[in-house]
Amino acid sequence: MLPPSETPTILQALRAETRPAHDLLEQNHFNQSLAAGTLSYAATAHFLAKMYGFLVPYEARLRQQNLGPEWEAEARQRAHLILEDLQVPASALALCPIMPPLASWPQLLGAMYVLEGSTLGGQVIARQLAKADIPLRTYFGGYGAQTGPRWKAFCQLLAAAATPANQAEIVQSASLTFQQLSAWLNQP
Ligand code: HEM
Repeated sequence: MLPPSETPTILQALRAETRPAHDLLEQNHFNQSLAAGTLSYAATAHFLAKMYGFLVPYEARLRQQNLGPEWEAEARQRAHLILEDLQVPASALALCPIMPPLASWPQLLGAMYVLEGSTLGGQVIARQLAKADIPLRTYFGGYGAQTGPRWKAFCQLLAAAATPANQAEIVQSASLTFQQLSAWLNQP
């Protein structure tokens, strides 16, 4: 076991453990066409519909946690922005049937890391969509100018909530969340 001074902080551990999963996610069809500059309205709409299916069960679990106001849990629920983008009723979109286990607080924290972190990539995507004149940018716009500050605030809350006893469970849940999200996004 490493002495405490050499134990990676929760964020260092999360970054190191999930980097391969992030790289893999960036290789899905939507992100490939993003990188190639061949983004289409249809591929973007499909990606958003899939994200919606993952966000709805996750956000239902988030609401159960009754977090204090410092977590800004309401603002962090963004599935409804996808309905605005797609102009469809919720009933038109399929929900992900296989979610990572989110029952415990450390498990939820790991999933929050993944979905809050995705707001950073969303900013990049929103800029690419603007360049391609694709209007589906409400969800990807994330928290707008608040994206950076909200991510920092989340990281601080996460660091304060992590303990030597729950750190491994948080990191494992983040990895599983990335895996299940990838599997769901890549399923036609
Ligand atoms: C659903 C898909 C995605 C998820 C769940 C996701 C998740 C994450 C997470 C958790 C982080 C935080 C890493 C940290 O600890 O600093 C992050 C950062 C980031 N992601 Fe993604 N991401 C996704 C897609 C993308 C895509 C497609 C791009 C590229 C266009 C991208 C670009 C970035 C960038 C630029 C950062 C900031 C990296 C840094 O500041 O060092 N992400 N993402």
